[in-house]
Amino acid sequence: MANENNFQDIIAHCKEYGYIFPSSEIYDGLSAVYDYGQNGVQLKKNIRDQWWKSMTQLQDNIVGIDAAIFMHPLTWKASGHVDNFSDPMIDNKDSQKRYRVDHLIEGHAEKLEQEGRKEEARALLAKMDSLLAKDDFPALKELILSNGIVCAVSGTANWSDIRQFNLMFQTQIGSVSGEADTIYLRPETAQGIFVNFLNVQKTGRMKIPFGIAQTGKAFRNEIVARQFIFRMREFEQMEMQFFVRPGTELDWYAHWKAERKKWHESIGIPADKLRYHDHVKLAHYANAAVDIEYEFPFGFKELEGIHSRTDYDLKQHQGLSKKKMQYYDNDLDENGKPYGNYIPYVVETSVGLDRLFLAVVSMSYKEEKWQKEDGTEDSRVVMRIPPKLAPYKLAILPLVKKDGLPEIARDLMHECKEFFHTFYEEKDSIGKRYRRMDAIGTPYCVTVDHQTKEDHTVTIRDRDNMTQERIHLNEVIQKIREAIK
Ligand code: GAP
Repeated sequence: MANENNFQDIIAHCKEYGYIFPSSEIYDGLSAVYDYGQNGVQLKKNIRDQWWKSMTQLQDNIVGIDAAIFMHPLTWKASGHVDNFSDPMIDNKDSQKRYRVDHLIEGHAEKLEQEGRKEEARALLAKMDSLLAKDDFPALKELILSNGIVCAVSGTANWSDIRQFNLMFQTQIGSVSGEADTIYLRPETAQGIFVNFLNVQKTGRMKIPFGIAQTGKAFRNEIVARQFIFRMREFEQMEMQFFVRPGTELDWYAHWKAERKKWHESIGIPADKLRYHDHVKLAHYANAAVDIEYEFPFGFKELEGIHSRTDYDLKQHQGLSKKKMQYYDNDLDENGKPYGNYIPYVVETSVGLDRLFLAVVSMSYKEEKWQKEDGTEDSRVVMRIPPKLAPYKLAILPLVKKDGLPEIARDLMHECKEFFHTFYEEKDSIGKRYRRMDAIGTPYCVTVDHQTKEDHTVTIRDRDNMTQERIHLNEVIQKIREAIK
């Protein structure tokens, strides 16, 4: 497992190399809100594009939408978010700090593990799971007290009672104060899909089973917002709702559970850094649920959730909107009769784009040291980002800023731009420029030197093994396109 020190280095690196900045930093930032810089935005887009392609272009029966962030307030009443989207919280009366109960207990269990008290940690988590499943708050408080769990700030166990805290942000719509209605910033993108189920099904003449995919911002007033971009108040989700015939949902659930893990591996996440975690306490809408967890520098944590959501959401929307959410299935059942009208069941896949970004950055960040031929030590920090995700695919570097080399380099850059993101740099020694590209994660560097003027060849350097070869200028585009396919 990577460690917390390494995590602090990753955070610092993300800032230094234009990946992620604290939001409104000149005003000292805003807790749990982050901005993506010039390299971060491109990496994020590349991850999103891979997901979008795999969910829409590469599927026969999944289409995309882009619903608005603001939705009618009844949406959130129907979905259960107004009544149920809350976490059990506990306050420390001395420090006034508020904690999510499960995070507080999990943090203590992690400490026990680090001390080698694995059995105790496991027993504590099992007890917590069973009490959370019963919403037994007095017993949960007793569990915290009997385990001597204290506040990290005050160091005391002077805890309040446990109570529920709703995570949705509210705002007003309408210009006249007093007449304005309260609406919510969406806490998940999924509801934008449910309320458009009939629109898409009818206009797209979609036949069950089919899916609707969407990427977009979601907002949650997270109480314990920590661990960098792992848990943010404004974040991006990539969700897909797959509408199926009732009774087939658990087969489709198994299908998507396997498919989604395979997809993470296909974008370059090592299989041994991923694992499944089946839910003990099912959400109010689910009859099966699993997380795909990734081993972040702070341990295995949820990356993606896959839920069999039954017909809960469509039924709820039908109830409150009084619009029929039914589908007519003219396929024949085993008795030769059409399945007829029903409210479809739904299997959902939901991954946090920012968490996936953090997974890619954490697995790519490497501090490397080696011995040179003369016996001295050399080192570098390199981001081994899979080439198809890297912000820039190629850096073009004229060896010197004269003798016509910049002109050749710029001509090459002009040709490459059509096909992939290219970076041009002529400042500093070539060694320093290579190191900078390693730190950004650019998989290839082409150096234009004096020999280029004679035979139209350039050196191309591979980020990962630092080997160099000479190839013809005409071969550059093809080589990079092969690498990022
Ligand atoms: N529609 C289902 C849903 O929203 P969820 O498990 O609450 O389920 C899905 O969220 C995914 O969204 C999570 O697996 C995680 O990757 C991401 N996510 C949730 N809350 C987040 C937060 N505060 N910051 C960053 N990502 C978050």
